[in-house]
Amino acid sequence: MALKDLISIYDLTSKEVQKIFATAASLKADPMKYAHSLDGCSVALIFEKPSLRTRVTFDLGATQMGASCVFLDHQGVRLGERESVKDMALNLERWVDLIVARTYSHETVIEFAAHASVPVINGLSEFSHPCQGLTDYFTLTEKVGPDLKGFKIAYVGDGNNTCHSLIFCAAKIGAHIRVGTPKGYEPDSEVLKLARKDARKTGAKIEVVNDPFEAVDGAQAVYTDVWASMGFEAETERRREIFSSFRVTRKLMNSAARGAFFMHCLPAHRGDEVDANVIDSRTSIVYDQAENRLHTQKSIMLLLVESNRAIRES
Ligand code: CP
Ligand code: NVA
Repeated sequence: MALKDLISIYDLTSKEVQKIFATAASLKADPMKYAHSLDGCSVALIFEKPSLRTRVTFDLGATQMGASCVFLDHQGVRLGERESVKDMALNLERWVDLIVARTYSHETVIEFAAHASVPVINGLSEFSHPCQGLTDYFTLTEKVGPDLKGFKIAYVGDGNNTCHSLIFCAAKIGAHIRVGTPKGYEPDSEVLKLARKDARKTGAKIEVVNDPFEAVDGAQAVYTDVWASMGFEAETERRREIFSSFRVTRKLMNSAARGAFFMHCLPAHRGDEVDANVIDSRTSIVYDQAENRLHTQKSIMLLLVESNRAIRES
């Protein structure tokens, strides 16, 4: 069945994930080859929350392939308040070829996709951040080669949207992820259940522990994200106490495999989830991840436009 939207990495086949990586590599190596791939297309970017990376890279990425973008700033307005999500989708589909939505509720992205006849891309919801997870594993293919089977990431911190997408992606490609969170902040049990279903097919290993040192033992990359995601700012102080032993310090990095990469989706808070001498060190690849958002999302847009053409023609 052809793919209509990108709501969660779980919805992709392992083959589609590999195709996204291969196309991202080709787009990065020869962007001019794709300069007209989206000629005549329009993209709506609809964001309920702030963004630097996702907004800039979708806008530039679409423009670099010949499309035009309209940014709808809904910060401060929850989608569905002024008019229903269904009506927004049914309007937008008359004008644009693709919708990127960054929302609080994951249900809102799902609702958009259910009503819009054009592809919808999840640009981050409270539940998942698929473009980030795909970019991160694509970045690792550049560092260690295309086969990431058994490659071990330790994700340390909050079992949040970014963590969920990393788990789903690891499961699709047969990688190993060990998540270390404080008790009560583990990833969603449904995510673990679904990912383990994929893992049985791909040989991936998905583990959850409550000790940061146990999490990073043998890890080839250590990943963290903010302790209080967008929408959880009121919990910042409380979380600072709960998560303090999960900060990625030099000592924690020294307990991972020798030369382990440090990864972060950004924005980062130095002194909270990561120390400056880790994120600003030689093994940190955070700006490679940020750069690759551009190439990976171009690849995702192309995949969706192509598969939607196939859906319409069938
Ligand atoms: N990593 C990420 O999605 O960054 P933005 O919130 O700036 O888009
Ligand atoms: N978990 C973070 C990711 C930001 C890119 C958040 O949702 O705020």
